[in-house]
Amino acid sequence: MPTFEHAMQPAAAVGADVLVVFATGSAADADDPVAQLTPSAASTAVELGIDVAGELRAVGFDGGLGDVAHIPTRGAATAALLVVVGLGEAERVDAEVLRRAAGAAARAATKDAVVAVVAPLELVGSADGDSALPGVQALVEGLALGAYGYTEYRRKPHDVPSIARVLVLADADGKVEEAIARGKALSDATALARDLVNTPPMSKRPPMLADRIAAVARSVGLGVEVWDAKALEKGRFGGILGVGQGSSVEPRMVELTYEPKGFGGARFGKAKGGHVVLVGKGITFDSGGLSLKPSASMTTMKSDMGGAAAIVGAMSVLGALGVGTKVTGLLALAENMPGGDAIRVSDVLTHRDGTTVEVMNTDAEGRLVLADALAYGAEQAPDAMIDLATLTGAQVVALGPDISGLMGTDDALVEALEAAAKTAGEKLWHLPLPVEYREQLRSEVADLKNIGKPGQAGTLVAGLFLKEFVGDVPWAHLDIAGPAFTEEGDAFYRAKGGTGVMVRTLVQYLRDRA
Ligand code: BES
Ligand code: ZN
Ligand code: ZN
Repeated sequence: MPTFEHAMQPAAAVGADVLVVFATGSAADADDPVAQLTPSAASTAVELGIDVAGELRAVGFDGGLGDVAHIPTRGAATAALLVVVGLGEAERVDAEVLRRAAGAAARAATKDAVVAVVAPLELVGSADGDSALPGVQALVEGLALGAYGYTEYRRKPHDVPSIARVLVLADADGKVEEAIARGKALSDATALARDLVNTPPMSKRPPMLADRIAAVARSVGLGVEVWDAKALEKGRFGGILGVGQGSSVEPRMVELTYEPKGFGGARFGKAKGGHVVLVGKGITFDSGGLSLKPSASMTTMKSDMGGAAAIVGAMSVLGALGVGTKVTGLLALAENMPGGDAIRVSDVLTHRDGTTVEVMNTDAEGRLVLADALAYGAEQAPDAMIDLATLTGAQVVALGPDISGLMGTDDALVEALEAAAKTAGEKLWHLPLPVEYREQLRSEVADLKNIGKPGQAGTLVAGLFLKEFVGDVPWAHLDIAGPAFTEEGDAFYRAKGGTGVMVRTLVQYLRDRA
């Protein structure tokens, strides 16, 4: 991760290898597509005495989002290279566009470069005070995440982008440093979630992952309690234990606690933002269990703990950002394997709240581990409870790789999450929880069964299953099966692998509360 600083010196003199400026493009279907330097880029060009517009015209640069043009400065600036990055159609430039363009800039930078970027605050935010913050923050996030790569197991990561330092050139005082720090914190949080997802499943089996999460959590001042199999048995977490019983290692539940400063104990009263419980699906590898997945469906299943990873990432920066909401994170960690002791099809599990469930497909395991954690979370009577899970293949069919499914019992909570996602530049779509489909979950031998009818609204039926365990706590469910992992990556700020999706939305939601 590069370091970030605010700099106010002239672009020509700034000590960097690469100078980045931005240009907008005309509509893709325009007769003569041509890029237009942003005002800040145009004044940089004047300052350097380079005919940047002419250079761009010469190479036919049309300013498409993420397109990059390299222009040598030939002594006009300390930086040897001027990089112009396209923002796409001018009318569409918002914080997310800037984030994407910045990601493309990071990927275009030379290895270990010092990058100075001329912030186009005239497009997103403005030079005075608070309004500059979203633009600067998005710029930092794009650059930091664009330069992300998972290199733990690579001896020669020559094709992974890396940036040493970023200087944000913004002719604005006030809170630029704060926006940089916030962008950096959110990028670090996202990168942590990505790292956890990208880790091979052999290196994050539940006890190991629990230890790793506990170490990170302690280092940032979160409270940590790890529930091992014995504690889970005593606590009647039949779902987590049932899913984990086919593995040669025990499942775990990790309970993380964030207390805002000044609200350390009951005698201080409630935190300003109240109490939110976050519940994460943490299947460290989903083979399907005895209802074994076909090999092709297993290749991305190390990402089946993406919900838990997002919560760890988000909670790791709550203190640094001064969030005023008490947050409990419940991470249900298990490895879904077809061992000799594995749960059988038609076995019956008893969950934390006493609900019995007939397991008619061991590959519908996420809802089984979440059921216990949701029931336990509801016992804490929080003001809101949100679960995140790579829950259903049907979510991928319905919404694809970029849009997370959102369901919930509370309109205000759903709307707050939609608003937070919009601010954070992530995509959600509100789906229903139709009572009509509840009967799909009826079982002859237990209170419920864990699957509905094949091919019929699998995402909604999974949501209805979870709803059984939340009592009357305002609850929302995020199905991130598609968005948690990308096999393709994009040209902006998502490398192939774990995406860290919903980290930024979660943090935004919690900050919006208080
Ligand atoms: N982890 C999977 C869901 C998934 C699929 C995540 C694709 C990411 C990408 C989940 O445990 C699962 O296998 N769900 C089954 C449920 C079905 C058996 C009712 C599914 O969606 O096929
Ligand atoms: Zn599964
Ligand atoms: Zn799963």
